[in-house]
Amino acid sequence: MDALELLYQGKAKSAYVTEDPELLILKFRDDTSAFDGEIIEQLSEKGAINNQFNAFIMQKLADAGIPTHFVERLNATDSLVKRLEMIPVECVVRNRAAGSLVKRLGVDEGLAFDPPLFELFLKNDALHDPMITEHHVEAFGWASRDEMARMHQLTLETNRVLKQLFDDSGLQLVDFKLEFGRANGEIVLGDEFSPDGCRLWDKVTGEKKDKDRFRQKLGGVLDAYREVAERLGIVFDS
Ligand code: TMP
Repeated sequence: MDALELLYQGKAKSAYVTEDPELLILKFRDDTSAFDGEIIEQLSEKGAINNQFNAFIMQKLADAGIPTHFVERLNATDSLVKRLEMIPVECVVRNRAAGSLVKRLGVDEGLAFDPPLFELFLKNDALHDPMITEHHVEAFGWASRDEMARMHQLTLETNRVLKQLFDDSGLQLVDFKLEFGRANGEIVLGDEFSPDGCRLWDKVTGEKKDKDRFRQKLGGVLDAYREVAERLGIVFDS
């Protein structure tokens, strides 16, 4: 096969064009970043773990009727996805307080939210992903009011599906981030779902099983990712 043409290089994934203009290949790399790319390290096999983790979750979301960009997993590190016109807004849902919320509002880590808390951030590393509201999204034309409502709805629906899935495996889904895009006038989930972009705590011990292990230098990052995958019943290729 000819060398693939790189379309976009993110912090942890690269997107390549294919012969079909509507499809891209996403390559999950071992690069692991924190603090808006301030720290980047390679964690051997993380790309393969996250690609296979993501494929499993995308299938669960599709089964629940959530439209996603995911088409199929191609090999250990690569997946085929639909090309979307991406919206530069990060939708975050929180079932418990952690991370930036704890710093911003000075609440205790672990404070429970019922119903879950929904927040928006602008995807802009140089500005450190500032918090925004749906009014900013409309005023700056990043998405229409209807599109924003749909992103909100799909994020909460994803939370309902995945909260239960992780709960059944003895894990609390604390929070996660999703990005969306447009395809044929429809809002479609255009993000990965892996322990890189969510927080997962052991229901019994409270132990962190996600990228906070990297951010907080707790060690055992990929052992935790593998353990989560194993608990969900994911079997890895390599
Ligand atoms: P935060 O506590 O840093 O605001 O993050 C909330 C959740 O969203 C957490 O699971 C990490 C995830 N997230 C990303 O994966 N990438 C991002 O750029 C941001 C802002 C959050």
